[in-house]
Amino acid sequence: MTILLDINDLHISYGRVEAVRGVSLAMQQGQTVTVIGPNGAGKTTLLAAIAGLLPSRGAMTYRGRDLQRLEVEARLEQGLCLVPEKRELFGDMTVADNLVLGGYWRRNEKEAIKRDLDAVYARFPRLAERRAQQANTLSGGERQMLALGRALMAKPRLLLLDEPSLGLAPLIVREIFEIIASLRSTGVSVLLVEQNARAALETADYGYVLETGSIVHSGPASELLHDPRVAATYLGGHS
Ligand SMILES: Nc1ncnc2c1ncn2[C@@H]1O[C@H](COP(=O)(O)OP(=O)(O)OP(=O)(O)O)[C@@H](O)[C@H]1O
Ligand SMILES: [Mg+2]
Repeated sequence: MTILLDINDLHISYGRVEAVRGVSLAMQQGQTVTVIGPNGAGKTTLLAAIAGLLPSRGAMTYRGRDLQRLEVEARLEQGLCLVPEKRELFGDMTVADNLVLGGYWRRNEKEAIKRDLDAVYARFPRLAERRAQQANTLSGGERQMLALGRALMAKPRLLLLDEPSLGLAPLIVREIFEIIASLRSTGVSVLLVEQNARAALETADYGYVLETGSIVHSGPASELLHDPRVAATYLGGHS
């Protein structure tokens, strides 16, 4: 197995407040890894630093490269693609235009982009039906699908997903997690940040529990699902 991402003793601060305190995390190529934890644990902060949107201290290696030396765009070109918590779609643009913008950095590959657009529409029939609709008229679930579809247009190797199920109704949540699980067969690796711990652990190969900036448990996702310490805190109310 090839190590895709290797993070060692990472620290991230907002001014004097240290939000991530010495996190180490590794994932293999092709894996889906989840980071679960409560509000304010530092999950979004961690993903933002991996994507290059926030400065951090510590070692981050991605595909054998020192991530700390790569700018945001270079990280994107290396296949690192963040789907942020707030989705950040272009609301007054159509579904189709949002998708095409997802492939912006490889805009010279016109044929490939067209092929990938068709593949996204095949994966998300609802986006195909709504391709001419403005993004800000989509439902929450459709918006999340568009955010995922747009990320796929960037040809990611590693998708960083920040709370893809946030604010969605249970049926849509299930659909989103099925889509995430189906990405595995396409070879895309996924680092999934979630508060819906049960669904995340059921989808992932490996999991980390982050609390106030530190990893407090980690292990194969199936083991964490049955770990009484994890269950007591994180698996109670969710289904
Ligand atoms: N821009 C900022 N300036 C100062 N502090 C921040 C900033 N963004 C986040 N923080 C703080 O950093 C800590 C981690 O925040 P973060 O958003 O990473 O948590 P999270 O695990 O993603 O939480 P949630 O589940 O609510 O999304 C929190 O204490 C938060 O208040
Ligand atoms: Mg967050």
